[in-house]
Amino acid sequence: MSDELKKGLEGVLVAESGLSHIDGDEGRLVYRGYAIEDLARQASYEEVLYLLWHGRLPDADELADFADEMTAEREVDDGVLATVRELAEQDEDPMAALRTAVSMLSGYDPDDSDHEPDDREANLRKGRRITAKIPTLLAAYNRIRNGQEPVDPREDLDHAANFLYMLNGEEPDDVLAETFDMALVLHADHGLNASTFAAMVTSSTLADLHSAVTSAIGTLSGSLHGGANQNVMRMLKEVDDSDKDPVKWVRDALDEGRRVPGFGHRVYNVKDPRAKILGEESEALGEAAGDTKWYEYSVAIEEFMAEEKGIAPNVDFYSASTYYQMGIPVDIYTPIFAMSRAGGWIAHVLEQFEDNRLIRPRARYVGSEREEFVPVDER
Ligand code: COA
Repeated sequence: MSDELKKGLEGVLVAESGLSHIDGDEGRLVYRGYAIEDLARQASYEEVLYLLWHGRLPDADELADFADEMTAEREVDDGVLATVRELAEQDEDPMAALRTAVSMLSGYDPDDSDHEPDDREANLRKGRRITAKIPTLLAAYNRIRNGQEPVDPREDLDHAANFLYMLNGEEPDDVLAETFDMALVLHADHGLNASTFAAMVTSSTLADLHSAVTSAIGTLSGSLHGGANQNVMRMLKEVDDSDKDPVKWVRDALDEGRRVPGFGHRVYNVKDPRAKILGEESEALGEAAGDTKWYEYSVAIEEFMAEEKGIAPNVDFYSASTYYQMGIPVDIYTPIFAMSRAGGWIAHVLEQFEDNRLIRPRARYVGSEREEFVPVDER
């Protein structure tokens, strides 16, 4: 047994996976061998889900059937919606609301009572339900907290367009729907990131899929992980409000010992390929609106961080200005990340159940070896 301590499990191999691979030196990401650039530009989120869950790209009929199966699962039971309403009216944090609602879905899932880890078909059905319902939960939460009634899902819109429709109450134009679909594809899977690993740790105890996804949502919420995307937008807005130039703002933040959200990564030593694609989207949206200031601030910060710290942007950096220009509220950027990554979490849990072993690392004990116990009334 090795006593080498790997803080943060950096570089430690804990599983074999055929789902996604990151080459951190080349800045390359593949899902089951397909380059992220090809998937982002040419595949829909549903297609990517099929690829992750079934191991290969679907043909046209398989994709149509799969999309229909997903669409059929969009509606959420009234009991869960009542809780979403309560959480929204209490102004609960959006990630906490999503975590609670997803956990609650298990009680309404027809396959919930017979949890068998190796019942792959039941787990796929649960996975479809969870993934299909998250947009409905999130859109309802956002509308209720703004004093609006939830909008029912539409069957004629795909996963991405239907979410924007339920969020805004109007059908998105093609540019918005395609940009959002691309963002979902880009966030769908990413090796053993912290939230995926949390899902795997949970499922390694043979806990059920809803428990694994609930663990993962909680893990994604932190500012070192999925929470970074909303912090990027808050930073860009602070820059805008402060009349400072973006470089001065970031220099001050670094001088104060703060981290710059949207930069750095455990695995990439170069720019995250997803940030390149989202940067192009952010620029295109700015140009279409006749105002590229968010993109320009971002580029100035990226150049400064490269010179000053040698650190490149990650996926969260340009997703922020992309979502902002799409009119999406800043505090639901992280739940949107969850909406997409749910597909990856579920794929990893399915993979885990095929060859499971309890995940149970060790800590080096640095506490006292022997203390004499003194009863409480004698202390
Ligand atoms: N801003 C400023 N400095 C940063 C930084 C950032 N965003 N990210 C990393 N660094 C610096 C650290 O200060 C550290 O420098 P040091 O060795 O001089 O102390 C060095 O880079 C390595 O950072 P470390 O925290 O050890 O890397 P990690 O692999 O443990 O953490 C992240 C990775 C992603 C948590 C980290 O880069 C970060 O906090 N980024 C900001 C949050 C974010 O965008 N998260 C989303 C990730 S997709």
